[in-house]
Amino acid sequence: ESAEDLEDRAPVVTVMGHVDHGKTRLLDAIRSSNVTEGEAGGITQHIGAYQVQVPHEGEDRALTFIDTPGHEAFTAMRARGAKVTDIAVLVVAADDGVMPQTVEALNHAKAANVPVVVAVNKIDKEGAAPDKIRGQLTEYELIPEEYGGEVMFVDVSARQNKNIDELLEAVLLTADAALELKANPDKEARGVAIEANLDKGRGAVATVLVQSGTLRVGDNMVAGTAFGRVRAMFDENGEQVKEATPSRPVQVLGLSTVPRAGDSFLVTTDDRTARQIAEKREAAERNALLAKRRKRITLEDFD
Ligand code: GTP
Ligand code: NA
Ligand code: MG
Repeated sequence: ESAEDLEDRAPVVTVMGHVDHGKTRLLDAIRSSNVTEGEAGGITQHIGAYQVQVPHEGEDRALTFIDTPGHEAFTAMRARGAKVTDIAVLVVAADDGVMPQTVEALNHAKAANVPVVVAVNKIDKEGAAPDKIRGQLTEYELIPEEYGGEVMFVDVSARQNKNIDELLEAVLLTADAALELKANPDKEARGVAIEANLDKGRGAVATVLVQSGTLRVGDNMVAGTAFGRVRAMFDENGEQVKEATPSRPVQVLGLSTVPRAGDSFLVTTDDRTARQIAEKREAAERNALLAKRRKRITLEDFD
């Protein structure tokens, strides 16, 4: 693949942090402050991944956000070797401070070599101590810029929509300073499933993140051990879309079963190939499980 095939893509930002520190609320605030007037008040439904347009230095820049409910999805993704995120926003509640899952999250980011922006949240609350958070995180080598380090900290209130634009600005500045994000949109799509569920009416509904190529309605795809033909796709506003380019999350309808968070997906030339790959993956998983069981039995024999 030559350099001229590559085009700029949006940074993919994962929001991480301790339970109840405000990840989902912050994502809702980001999304609601970035929807067009026509949709005002219409932000009720939470979705696990979406893209927003942010005005930055005279142009509109796209940012893709991913929620990590209670960490499980992110941990599962890491376990499956999926690298989805370019940047991590570490959310720390200013009234609660650094907690076990905060440390776990920053260790994830470190291990994946992903730059971090810290959102010190809930600054509206009594007892909020944003400077104390800065001090605490310094001990984990996240040194704030104002202390001579390289990490941008932004004090926010997701509840009061305070400093959300400043946070987005910090994410874009960090992305531009640390990363060069490119992908080739002119090939069959590959990417990762972010979340999925079984809908009574619509069947398997999977939110997938396209990482390279372009995903189109009518494509044959495999996601984990699920396969099928893309029947329809929807963006974060529930609008039907015909295609999805790199860094774009979309909801996909048409898979045979529900993939798991972190499952990789790819587009195949025909439905037979999709089915074959899915079956191969399923057999491999079955064998791995059997091998594990056999090993356990053998160990028990020695007891
Ligand atoms: P998990 O997904 O369960 O790990 O939680 P989370 O990090 O997504 O937290 P969530 O957004 O669900 O927020 C937890 C609670 O904190 C909710 O009651 C929010 O309304 C509240 N909360 C979030 N942000 C703020 C804030 O800026 N100020 C105040 N006062 N409350 C907030
Ligand atoms: Na919560
Ligand atoms: Mg949440």
